Formats: sequence, C-alpha cells, structure tokens
Amino acid sequence: MPIESGNCIMCGIVGIVGKKHAEKIILSGLGRLEYRGYDSAGLFVSNDDTQHLVKSQGRIKNLEEKITKDINGTIGIGHTRWATHGKPSERNAHPQTSSDHRLVLVHNGVIENFEEIQKEYLADDHFDGETDTEIVVHLISALMAKESLSTKAAFKKALSLIRGSYAFALVDTQDKETIYVAKNKSPLLIGLGEGFNVICSDAIAMLDQTSHFVEIADGEMVTVTACAIHIEDEKGNLVYRESYEAQLDLNDIEKGAYPFYMLKEIDEQPAVMRRLISDYSDEKKQVTINDSLLQQISACDRLYIIACGTSYNAGCAAKNVLETMTQIPVEIHLSSEFSYNMPLLSKKPFFIFLSQSGETADSRQVLVQINHFDFPSLTITNVAGSTLSREAKHTLLLHAGPEIAVASTKAYTAQIAVLAILAKAIGKNKGIDASIDFDVFGELSIIAAAMEAVINEKGTISQLAKDHLKHTRNAFYIGRGNDYNVSLEASLKLKEISYIQTEGFAAGELKHGTIALIEEKTPVFGIITNGKTSAHTRGNLKEVESRGADTIVIASASLAKETDAVILPEVHPLLTSLVSVIPTQLIAYFACLQRGYDVDKPRNLAKSVTVE
Ligand code: AGP
Repeated sequence: MPIESGNCIMCGIVGIVGKKHAEKIILSGLGRLEYRGYDSAGLFVSNDDTQHLVKSQGRIKNLEEKITKDINGTIGIGHTRWATHGKPSERNAHPQTSSDHRLVLVHNGVIENFEEIQKEYLADDHFDGETDTEIVVHLISALMAKESLSTKAAFKKALSLIRGSYAFALVDTQDKETIYVAKNKSPLLIGLGEGFNVICSDAIAMLDQTSHFVEIADGEMVTVTACAIHIEDEKGNLVYRESYEAQLDLNDIEKGAYPFYMLKEIDEQPAVMRRLISDYSDEKKQVTINDSLLQQISACDRLYIIACGTSYNAGCAAKNVLETMTQIPVEIHLSSEFSYNMPLLSKKPFFIFLSQSGETADSRQVLVQINHFDFPSLTITNVAGSTLSREAKHTLLLHAGPEIAVASTKAYTAQIAVLAILAKAIGKNKGIDASIDFDVFGELSIIAAAMEAVINEKGTISQLAKDHLKHTRNAFYIGRGNDYNVSLEASLKLKEISYIQTEGFAAGELKHGTIALIEEKTPVFGIITNGKTSAHTRGNLKEVESRGADTIVIASASLAKETDAVILPEVHPLLTSLVSVIPTQLIAYFACLQRGYDVDKPRNLAKSVTVE
C-alpha cells in the first residue's frame, strides 16, 4: 500500500482530558470544525477500564451513529479530515495508530520527508493505510522501542526528524492522563478549563467548554493534563504564555432558524456594515485606526495586496477606492503566485494581507518572506489571534462574526468596507481632497440599507436561478471596471457551490476569443453600475445575445432598463461592489439549493486552506 504525503491539508482536531463523556464533547467539537474538512472522521476515547477508537467515512453524523453507549471516556482526541493524498476512507481516517496500537495520533498538515523517514527508520513496518500520519506514529513507536525513550522523548525526537506542516495530538494508551500536542504552521490552540483542558484547531470547536485559550507557537510541544499544561520550546525550555479570552459566543456560530450558514451570513452583511461603522469611528465620526499604521502606509510608494480566492477578489474590488483616496498605486497579487514569482518591488512597499481565516498557508508563505526583508505589513482578517494576524506588523479586524459556510460572503464585503475606511484615513492623513470629502461612514450606512433592499428580493432572485441556471452546464458574468471585479467574485461563488462552470469576464474582452463558448441559451449575467461604461457593457450583452445567449442584467437604478432582472439602489460609485455582489451571492445560493447540493459544505472544498 503506497504511503502518500499530505494526507490532510485543512483538517479539524479536537481533544479533551479530565472530563466525563469526552466522546460527546469531541463529537460536538468536530461538528463545529466540519467546515474544515468533511470526507472522513474518527475519535479515540479512554477511561480507566476501557478504550475505543472509532472511525468512519463521510460526515461527522456517520461517526456519531457508531458511538454506542459503552463508548465513553475522560480523555480523548478526534479528527475530521479533508483528504488530498490517500483517498477518503475509514483506513485513512484519523486517529492513526502505531503497529502495537499503543500510540494514537491525529494530524493536520503535510509531512514532506515521510518517504525518507519510512526508508531510514521503518523499512520493515507494515502500514494499514496510505497516510503520512501513520508513518509519524510508527516512527514515535520505533524510537521508543529502539532507543528506550519515553513517549514524550520519542515524540520530541520524531518532531526533530520530520519536515513539513503539522498540528499533532498524541495519546499513549498506557497513560490515561496526558495528551501531547505539537505545532508547526498548522493552527492549534489549548483551551483552559476548571479541572480539565482541551485542544482544538479553532476556538469555536470548544466554546461550550471554555472561552480561555492559549496560543501555541511553531516548534513548541505541549504536555496537556487535566490540571496543567506545560509548553516547551524546541530547546526544551519551559515557556509561560498568558491565555486570552475568545471574543466569540456560541450564538455567533449557531445557525439559529436558518437552513444554511451561507444564507445567514448573506443576511448578516447589513449588520456587519453597521458594526464596522461603530467599531472604526469615534464620537466625532472620525476613523479610529492607529496612527503608526497610517503613518507607515502614508510613507510607502506602493501598496501590495496579497490574497487568495474571495479575499483576492475583494482586493481587486477595493483597488479603485484605495488609489482614489490615497493616491498610492495599488497592486493585487495571488499569494501562491507572488511567493515563488515575486515581481520587482518598489523602493518603499507596504504589504496588505487579506484573509478571512488568517490561516491560509499560501498567504502566510508570502508573509514569511516579507518579514524576512522586514517590510511593513498589515493583515486584515476575521480571526483575532490567527497566524497571519500574529505574524504581520499590524492587524485590522473584519468584525464580521464567525464565517462558517465554506463559500465566503460577508467576509468579502467586510474586507472591501475595511479597505475603504482605511483608504479614507490614509487619504485624510495625507491631505488628499477626495478623501477629506469622502464620508465613508455615511456611505456605508447607505450601503447597509441598500443591501437590505436587495436581500429582500430573495423571491425574484430564486426565480432567476430557476429560470436560467437549473440545467445549464456553464454560465458567464461580465462587466467593466469594478463590475468586472464583482464578476470575478460572482463566478467564483456560482462555481464553488453549484458546480456550474462559470467565468467572470471583462465585458470588452469577450469578443477576443471566449465568445466562441457562447451557445443557444448560455446564461450571461451582465453587471452594470458605472455610467461611463454601461452602454459598452450593454453592447457586449447584445453581441452574446445575437449568438443565442440568455442575458440577465443586474443594474443600478439610474442605469436600469425595464427588462433588467435586478435593480440595485444607488450607492457611492467607488463602493458599488458592496451592493452589486449581493444578488450574485443569492443566485449562487439558490442555484446550489435547486440542484440539491450541500450549500455550506461544497464538494472538494474546505474553509481555510492551511497548506500550500
Ligand atoms: C471562498 O468562498 C473560498 N472559501 C476561498 O476561495 C477563500 O476565499 C480562500 O481560500 C481564501 O481564504 P482566506 O480569506 O481565509 O485566506
């Protein structure tokens, strides 16, 4: 059975020691982490008399069905997986064990040198599955046997031999009091309780147990027992670290009456706009962003926005308002391209990292390089204390509340809004007229109301999806300028949850080739919010119509025609993306729903991508 590297790139890990019914706590924790990976899962629990290791393929509910009354414990670890190598199966699900089943390990990350390890230390070992995690737990067991090391010492030695990204939780079944954890690049937290302690990839997994968490730094190993945690750095020195209080509560992460998190998060966008207005303004309606950040950005000669996926699209949609208000040139780069193909940088660059999760490895890879050159950096994220926040020089939070649905919605509009607020502050700092006259909070308040008006058009938009997308194989979104930027995001949303092959295209570019894909009834959505280009976009829609396309127009009220499908309230021309994206989020939602797919957990995806 070939062992393959990188068996899980964004899985969810939970664990607990010192509390009864660890199995229940682990199952509910895994349920809250399911957005991180949902193709297989497993848990190990034990108490003084018994121990159980249970794994299943598919969703957490499949695992839940296997947990019978007799399966319980006071210590345990659990894992929900998102496979890359080693297909989703019960055998490849975690926990993985040593060949004598004494050691039990869960892992989130990729071990790059698993083959060398296997050849050098485990040539005679037999492996049940196809995962690199199994290699690691066999290695720890081999080091214990061959070098008469304790579990802890063998784990430490194994960590010094492996290369790659990892969050590990290890239990020795002969010790029912201790969980050993270690981390490098992948996220992992310790939660502190009264007489018990927990571990989790993300605080939301254990919010029903505690709100006090301790971050673990890369290279650290932690011994977790019911009453204590011991953090050691790579050299074995004890490390003391303050805990922090998670600013989240359970209601934030419950669906409430909503059928899906995505719909709840779409509906929350007006409230997020209002929260950003209050969180980023003082009583005189001035922007409250710390001066040293504003000074540093005002002193730069070029802004580099680094991001992936929807966050990248938000950067594209905010370029205009940033450049207009700050008069600083702005470049937007895909993290995965930038890290290995860095462009010629300006003399005084400033880097802005956009990341909802704050854990995206592609973006972190760039930040590591930027920090190496000691360039100034800012992370705009939705997760306080996340890796990209901790490692950047500055952080601005999105205050959007937890975003659980894999398809990002409220984080997109919150990122654009925070960049607009930042643009205002920098521009004012630099004395730029356009910025001094720009009442960003007034505009965001108008936008919140406009979002509500569009969100109330769910019925119309659901019908649009039914009429135009129910059976189609492909679709297009076209627009010019910021409407093109929104078309990029609109197509990503439709692709990632309805699986319709969709392209977001610059309307004027279509006739240079891609128009060849237009057939009878091909749905082409046109986004029109800019008076300077609306006639041109309508011309491009005519071109595809004459080749049989089914055109659907989303237009601002002042530019709308009677035949247009969705009319958008008028908002500030630099911020139209905040409203024009809403119908496209709902179109994706209804198209997915009408095709019977899982809205919150689309196939092949997961919420935060923690390896490159
Ligand atoms: C968006 O719906 C996707 N979930 C994905 O493209 C996401 O935007 C991307 O992985 C970046 O994530 P981040 O914002 O957490 O860094």
